[in-house]
Amino acid sequence: MRVDGILRVPGDKSISHRALMLGALGAGPSRVRGILQSLDVMSTASVLRALGVPVPALSDDLVMHGVGLRGLLAPTVDLDCGNSGTTTRLMAGIVAASPLAARFTGDASLSRRPMGRVARPLTQMGARFEHEAAGDGLPMTVHGGPLRGLTWHSETASAQVKSAILLAGLVGDVPAEVHEPVSTRDHTERMLLARGVDIRVDHGVVTLVPAARLDAADQLVPADPSSATFFAALAAMADTGELALDDVCVNPTRAGAFAVLRRMGARLTFEHERTEGGEPVARVVAAPGALHGAVIASDEVPSLVDELPVLACLAACANGELRVTGAGELRVKESDRITAIVSNLQAVGAEAEELPDGFIVRGTGRRPFRGHVVTHGDHRIAMAFGVLGAIPGSAIIVDDPACAAVSFPTFWQELARVVV
Ligand code: S3P
Repeated sequence: MRVDGILRVPGDKSISHRALMLGALGAGPSRVRGILQSLDVMSTASVLRALGVPVPALSDDLVMHGVGLRGLLAPTVDLDCGNSGTTTRLMAGIVAASPLAARFTGDASLSRRPMGRVARPLTQMGARFEHEAAGDGLPMTVHGGPLRGLTWHSETASAQVKSAILLAGLVGDVPAEVHEPVSTRDHTERMLLARGVDIRVDHGVVTLVPAARLDAADQLVPADPSSATFFAALAAMADTGELALDDVCVNPTRAGAFAVLRRMGARLTFEHERTEGGEPVARVVAAPGALHGAVIASDEVPSLVDELPVLACLAACANGELRVTGAGELRVKESDRITAIVSNLQAVGAEAEELPDGFIVRGTGRRPFRGHVVTHGDHRIAMAFGVLGAIPGSAIIVDDPACAAVSFPTFWQELARVVV
């Protein structure tokens, strides 16, 4: 297989959600350029509209008028978060601090995902959570109101939990301190700082000092490293050629997969390194190499948690073993990704084994893979196996390719374009 081309994958999903939320809470007009126009980000836009924020249709260059930290209105409809955990958990923090009640709903996958991880700290701050079904999923009603400050020791390394607490502190005008077991993506912190909020980070402890207002801001959204990794992995498993991925966010809290690709033997370099939109950005150039195994443990997982499906697929065509542990969080993503990765790798003829908190893939070199992939509607499973299926002679049928639209609507066209 030969790959060739220059790609600019769509805008970063995490930053896009936050740009809309902080734009909504800002004082005055905020401009967002390069926002990801995908289903998940549309969920955030429509939830904000239901709370009275005039969010325009998503476009490459948009201006939105913030309603300020205390300007949200009580919704008259459910807050439908679709498939998006980030929408649900971060908006739960914002609603918890607002004098209103809102009912959060979502699709079948999202409804099963644990919300107790945000409900617990936000309840301790003074909000009230009601879950309709057994467990701590959706539908869930959040009763917001006056909050008290919180110091929270997170049991799971989760940027969504950290962000929910910080946003609740911001809107509720109370101090918030989050201790993380391992540092997670820090976009919320960077974006709050850029909007005039006093937020401090010291040895894994993030502290927010109450702020009277949130400045409006211009946000340039860099290309999503999670989306870029599909194409970096594709280049790594090719026989010849190279792919250049432009404007990729290479924030160290997100760039773990690029380090693993290098450890597995791919040739990968960062060019034109610079800062854009408050984030380190580079052109990532990826090319094939002699692929071998690697070990990924808990300290590295947050920096590549969404990239593990495609790293697992890449490992199937390496010569050696990829061993991942400390990644129990994969069980509560859009699907149980440990089971989805392993059962689908087995279904297409690769050797893989489940661990309670991870998996092992025993690679047997570049060769065709054939079989049916069951995505469970999980976008990253669909795209990871799409990459594996690009190997010549492969015949991988993905049951629901359209679910890529959650984070990367143009994925299949781009894939077809760069394999030459
Ligand atoms: C995200 C955080 C991660 C990640 C998700 C996006 C964010 O989830 O998997 O895709 O934007 O904060 P967790 O916080 O559950 O680890």
